[in-house]
Amino acid sequence: MQNELVIVLDFGGQYNQLIARRVRECSVYCEVHPYTLPLEEIRKKAPKGIIFTGGPNSVYGANAPACDKAIYDLGIPILGICYGAQLMMAQLGGVVSTAPVREYGVTEVTFDNTGKLFGNVAHKSICLMSHTDYVSKPADGFKIVGTTDACPFAASENVEKNLYTVQFHPEVNHTKEGTTILSNFLFDVCQCAGDWKMDSFVERSIEAIRAKVGDGKVLCALSGGVDSSVAAVMLSKAVGKQLTCIFVDHGLLRKNEGDEVEEVFSKSGKFDLNFIRVNAQKRFYDKLEGVSEPEKKRKIIGEEFIRVFEEEAKKIGTVDYLVQGTIYPDVIESGLGDSAVIKSHHNVGGLPDYVDFKEIIEPLRDLFKDEVRKSGLELGIPDYLVFRQPFPGPGLAIRIIGEVTEEKIKILQEADAIYREEIKKAGIDRSIGQYFAALTNMRSVGVMGDERTYDYAVALRAVNTSDFMTADAAELPWEVLGIVSQRIVNEVKHVNRVLYDCTGKPPATIEFE
Ligand code: XMP
Repeated sequence: MQNELVIVLDFGGQYNQLIARRVRECSVYCEVHPYTLPLEEIRKKAPKGIIFTGGPNSVYGANAPACDKAIYDLGIPILGICYGAQLMMAQLGGVVSTAPVREYGVTEVTFDNTGKLFGNVAHKSICLMSHTDYVSKPADGFKIVGTTDACPFAASENVEKNLYTVQFHPEVNHTKEGTTILSNFLFDVCQCAGDWKMDSFVERSIEAIRAKVGDGKVLCALSGGVDSSVAAVMLSKAVGKQLTCIFVDHGLLRKNEGDEVEEVFSKSGKFDLNFIRVNAQKRFYDKLEGVSEPEKKRKIIGEEFIRVFEEEAKKIGTVDYLVQGTIYPDVIESGLGDSAVIKSHHNVGGLPDYVDFKEIIEPLRDLFKDEVRKSGLELGIPDYLVFRQPFPGPGLAIRIIGEVTEEKIKILQEADAIYREEIKKAGIDRSIGQYFAALTNMRSVGVMGDERTYDYAVALRAVNTSDFMTADAAELPWEVLGIVSQRIVNEVKHVNRVLYDCTGKPPATIEFE
């Protein structure tokens, strides 16, 4: 059965998939397409609504992305966000110019509550603004329904034509009533029914994989983390024993993790798949010797991973597909189209020129972490695996600042294990988005017994986030931090200081690298 659909037209913004995910959260199926999607295609897909994303360009700049103006005559409701709002206005005869005062960050917007999008929103509400240009003269037929001190036309609507604009970003958590505003668009304006569920996504994906793979052989890069585990189980449900999962133990995993992964996916016999463990620790350590720069570490590990797969693939004969558990935040931060590269994620960047596979399959590429978890539960993966801490592909190598050595890996594994154990004991493990220890490259003076020490500082990180695109530092109970730091300093050799990272994302990232 064809689900009702909302289309997000991507104009190059950082939050385009986040918009789609927010729509899916409202139980409406949503796909992201490039702004170049032909009008005919849009008509064929018959979406209930269209959302234009933000983007880094100025609407009057050279090569500014623009869609066909005829889109406004399709009779499909459209919501323009940020650049999308400016584009709609400019295309319909309004004026966009450089704002005298740029707004970056949370800003109070005053809403006209008679507006269709804002009827049930507070008269004054906090929203995330992030723009250089603004609408300086709205197009004819638009009523202004939102203003800020610096942006007189922060939201507008043309109810007759079902066209809506917001200069702020309703999709991010920082916009307090963003979900309400999006729901108003979906349900009041687009008249969606909201009957889509994650199981539809899982079923659809399994069928699509089966059709694509046919009787081909599939190789899966299994790390034991949530993402690759969900991808692997999805593949095993689709093609059974045509799938071989290779687990590369690069020696950069958390304490005991290598053995745990082998236990779950192989020894327990719980899942129907071929499992191979490759003990490649030494290869990775050798390649990482003397390397401090985090991007370089990522590239080296990514490439070495692919080499190991190529070698294993050759051993098991012809392989047609390689499966990876890439999820959406990995993709966006590795740079898509014109958006800036923040870091090259292990699953995305660092592919060598020659790859000995026909194609890479990334079934979770459009999903956010919590959506991946929901899919995992739908697939019958046990809770403890589904709710496992996220762990980056390059592993502890990026959580060790500076050069990676076997000694530092051991220190970090021990410190991190203590931290995780105490968080669990305190019963707060499920309420924190992600938490882990990192090993700083800083050594400082301490005193233990009567001895002077000159040892490392371990940094503890804990963040709350729903989408891993933005995050706030978690406020951990002081008592727990006290126990953790005491235990780490007492039990882990060469650590004499424990620090807590209070930075949010942005400006930091979640990983401490
Ligand atoms: P950042 O540090 O980018 O992290 O704010 C966002 C989320 O992504 C995880 N992460 C990775 N996951 N491969 C992955 O599969 C990677 O290379 C990678 N780097 C970061 C990170 O742990 C957090 O959950």
